[in-house]
Amino acid sequence: MSYSNLLLEKQHQTLIIKINRPDKLNALNQAVLKELNMALNELFSNKEYLSAIITGTGEKSFIAGADIKEFLEYKDGKKLAECGQDLFRKIENSPKPIIACVNGFALGGGCELAMACHIRFASTNARFAQPEINLGLIPGWGGTQRLPMLIGKSRALEYLLTGNHISADQALHFGLVNYVLHQEDLIPRALELLKQVHAKSQICVEETLKAVNDYFDKDTSGFATEVYSFEKCFRSNDSKEGITAFLEKRPPIFQGN
Ligand code: COA
Repeated sequence: MSYSNLLLEKQHQTLIIKINRPDKLNALNQAVLKELNMALNELFSNKEYLSAIITGTGEKSFIAGADIKEFLEYKDGKKLAECGQDLFRKIENSPKPIIACVNGFALGGGCELAMACHIRFASTNARFAQPEINLGLIPGWGGTQRLPMLIGKSRALEYLLTGNHISADQALHFGLVNYVLHQEDLIPRALELLKQVHAKSQICVEETLKAVNDYFDKDTSGFATEVYSFEKCFRSNDSKEGITAFLEKRPPIFQGN
């Protein structure tokens, strides 16, 4: 598969996806969104990948939002919002963990994409915002839902209604990101964390992601998912191995079955 707007790289068992439009601060146009969808399909179908990192090229911007120029070409706002939401839900529902390494501006759709990822690491120069209100718009790719989920209703409303930027330190304080790091440390630190996760039972990884996502899904009982997921893990060979290894005082070797 060939990509013109993304750079894809395999490091250990992680697929690193880099949005590569640095001259446009990695703004998400339709071509990027289409390729992102392709890259996710590759992540899901290729057994060699156990996780992914999404980041931007350059030192200034993760993603400066949806491509504002393209907005003029659209007639159907409902379709535009639904397509973006579907793609970001695909990231959120990924059975393999995805870390956003936010290396600069994460504005509009960039902030929404980062929030759809499971974990966020930010560089010291990262800035988050939902500035759609300054364009006479509101977020359409999940920003009104995931920002309150991550930082609380009152804070989210402040930033959604003003479009003000959230600095990396504020983002850390709000719980929007897990760590603030020097830019060059973002990917190595994310890889380090993912390597730890790779050593676990991949059934448990997938079921944990599912159960935690269901906590936030109003139509599903997360507790019911947890029972189902627990049972699935409980009857796996990996759980037999994990329990036996503990009793034999040795590290477990999980096979993902
Ligand atoms: N869509 C399309 N192009 C964008 C873009 C976006 N969201 N964000 C930046 N760009 C382009 C600029 O148009 C410019 O292109 P040009 O050189 O062809 O004119 C290039 O990226 C560099 O951006 P520039 O504005 O010159 O950089 P800056 O350092 O002065 O400002 C920002 C950086 C991020 C503050 C500013 O670009 C900005 O406010 N971008 C829009 C953010 C936004 O509203 N996003 C939400 C969209 S829904």
